[in-house]
Amino acid sequence: MTGDAAPSRGVWITLEGGDGAGKTTQAGLLETWLRERGREVVRTREPGGTEVGTLVRDIVLHHRGEVAPRAEALLYAADRAQHVATLVRPALERGAVVVQDRYLDSSVAYQGAGRVLDAGEIRDLSLWATEGALPHLTVLLDLDPSAARARLDADDKPFDRLEAEREDFHARVRAAFLQLAAAEPDRFLVLDATAPAADLAAAVCARVQPLLA
Ligand code: TMP
Repeated sequence: MTGDAAPSRGVWITLEGGDGAGKTTQAGLLETWLRERGREVVRTREPGGTEVGTLVRDIVLHHRGEVAPRAEALLYAADRAQHVATLVRPALERGAVVVQDRYLDSSVAYQGAGRVLDAGEIRDLSLWATEGALPHLTVLLDLDPSAARARLDADDKPFDRLEAEREDFHARVRAAFLQLAAAEPDRFLVLDATAPAADLAAAVCARVQPLLA
């Protein structure tokens, strides 16, 4: 864990990208690869990695009435605070590899660029919530929003509140993710999500390997 002084023997990897980019598939492949190497893996996600997070997830993804943009940002930050304090930090301290679907970059992209809140304030809110915790590696699966929408349509599941946003919202989210990656090239690995899943997994594992030493 970078960004704070907490001693940590573990490795923290987050996966980011638009809805439908294939994060869950890649998280699963990475988990298998790590377990084959004898590592303890904690597979988790935001929102929803804890009991409190599951309740928050239900509100942010499925509440039927209006959720004000700042309320939404605070709900994601609350989920994150609980997640890092009660699950991620303890796992890293005992030496596990945490493989996590989404983290604070999602808030900067979705609430910052998507909902048009101040990106710096959104990032600072999450850093406050987590006492400055940042992952060792963030894998960004980059995908054009129209290709992502075609994948989600093929899934035939009802859209959640964020997935249901218009294409210009998702275009802003994608651009924000790419900007975040460009600003922190040491933390990010950016991959073209249209590549075959096995090729993506190989690229992820190659980048993770040196972190395990
Ligand atoms: P997912 O778990 O299926 O990826 O769904 C989570 C949704 O929540 C997804 O549309 C992205 C959105 N989200 C935010 O808007 N802000 C956040 O901070 C996080 C973690 C997710």
